[in-house]
Amino acid sequence: MKLELRGITKRFGNFTANDSIDLTVEAGEIHSLLGENGAGKSTLMNVLYGLYQPEEGQILLDGVEQHFSGPGDAMAAGIGMVHQHFMLIPVFTVAENLMLGHEPTRGLGALDLPAARRRVVEISERFGFRIDPDDRIEDLSVGQQQRVEIIKALAQNASVLVLDEPTAVLTPQETDELMGIMDELRKEGRSIVFISHKLREVRQVSDKISVIRRGKVVGQADPTASNEELASLMVGRAVGLSVQKEPAKVGEPVFKVEHLTVFSKQGHRLVDDLSFEIREGEVLVVAGVQGNGQTELTEAILGLAENTSGSITLSGKNLLTESVRRTLDAGLGFVPEDRTEDGIVGEFTIAENMILDRFHKRPFSSRLALNMRRIREYAEQAVEDYDVRTPSIDTPVGRLSGGNQQKVVLARELGRELKMFVASQPTRGLDVGSIEFVHKQIIAARDSGIPVLIVSTELDEVVQLGDRIMVMYGGKSMGIVPPETGREELGTMMAGVPHEQ
Ligand SMILES: Nc1ncnc2c1ncn2[C@@H]1O[C@H](COP(=O)(O)OP(=O)(O)OP(=O)(O)O)[C@@H](O)[C@H]1O
Ligand SMILES: [Mg+2]
Repeated sequence: MKLELRGITKRFGNFTANDSIDLTVEAGEIHSLLGENGAGKSTLMNVLYGLYQPEEGQILLDGVEQHFSGPGDAMAAGIGMVHQHFMLIPVFTVAENLMLGHEPTRGLGALDLPAARRRVVEISERFGFRIDPDDRIEDLSVGQQQRVEIIKALAQNASVLVLDEPTAVLTPQETDELMGIMDELRKEGRSIVFISHKLREVRQVSDKISVIRRGKVVGQADPTASNEELASLMVGRAVGLSVQKEPAKVGEPVFKVEHLTVFSKQGHRLVDDLSFEIREGEVLVVAGVQGNGQTELTEAILGLAENTSGSITLSGKNLLTESVRRTLDAGLGFVPEDRTEDGIVGEFTIAENMILDRFHKRPFSSRLALNMRRIREYAEQAVEDYDVRTPSIDTPVGRLSGGNQQKVVLARELGRELKMFVASQPTRGLDVGSIEFVHKQIIAARDSGIPVLIVSTELDEVVQLGDRIMVMYGGKSMGIVPPETGREELGTMMAGVPHEQ
């Protein structure tokens, strides 16, 4: 089905998120939207999906004008959407979530549970998803949850499919599989709008690329354009796509993990007898396919793991036996893997989120009263430094674009006196300009002489940030190697083959 958006304008108060946007997607076309964090991509898609009413403009499907008063109308007209932030209900099963997806729709008729289960199996088999209809969402990995979202959209026979940053949380292999699926859907004549910050995959999969900057379409590009061309079209300036850094000036190995084992509730070893050190002034990147114990390792450092043996020490202090509060107070900067779950409180303002874990500390608090002036000054500065695109520091963080939410977490965690910095997927969902900035900040933290531990599944990031790279597989280290190690060797280690000394 051919999709046309004509002159779409969407405002929030005085802020124009979409400014007279035109976009045409032909049947059987994969059309990518590129743009900075906060450029207005998700907003445009939410307009298309009937979640927002535009102030101006038209939506046409095969030349016929549409009026969507809600997602139900959009779904009934054949539009499916996989949101940037998942909309699944964690305590329900896959099939139950599918049923819910149909409830508000008109014309399709509600699915009963057996029908929903059949539909899941059918789509899952057809695309090789390996998703069981009776799995509970909360037991699935993010990659699997992503598939459930896609199944939901396909179950309605969507002929226009919107994928808003579907690959942000996927492993490279899952991403390849998704690209294959998109290709199949294109062959069936469906139109796909694809949003991603990863230039390489945008170039790989797109038929056409539209670039949005500050709410306006600023240009079109072919998939043959170079990364540099796309990046500068997006950001409006040349972007350094590789990290500039001096060789590490390392000090003492103040951070030590010794024979760490983290057990799951069922007694499985999620981290299995792991030992390594990080020196002052050094970045150790933990690489590997998601789900090989990296998350549990960082949680153990913070003090969240319940069932552990071995030790984790920072300057001789055992972090495993410290409370989370005391570890943070003692100077651990910590960026969690899932910002919406652990990093921010969506209903709180930017200013409030900036001081989330230290509101009880000076200079923000003098005994009882929070010092609002200091908090506000601090938040204003952080918003400026990190280029958080927001109407003001009083905006609830939940209203910010995904990438800007991530910047708030990073600004908070990097912007204080640190003894160590730990971050999982620090640049997930960030645009190329912001990635450049965050990488500089991480290197600055390292150059201030603290140990830095970064968990990343992005190979580019792994080799650019790491002074040393530890690959995890099945909770164990497959070896620690220098960043000059070839991609092939890293890939082999990620697949579970220990590095030969
Ligand atoms: N409900 C809302 N109320 C107020 N402002 C909003 C709302 N939704 C979005 N905005 C603002 O509109 C702008 C565009 O946001 P949008 O989510 O569309 O960006 P995006 O291009 O998808 O960015 P990202 O790449 O980070 O996901 C942002 O500045 C955001 O703060
Ligand atoms: Mg978005």
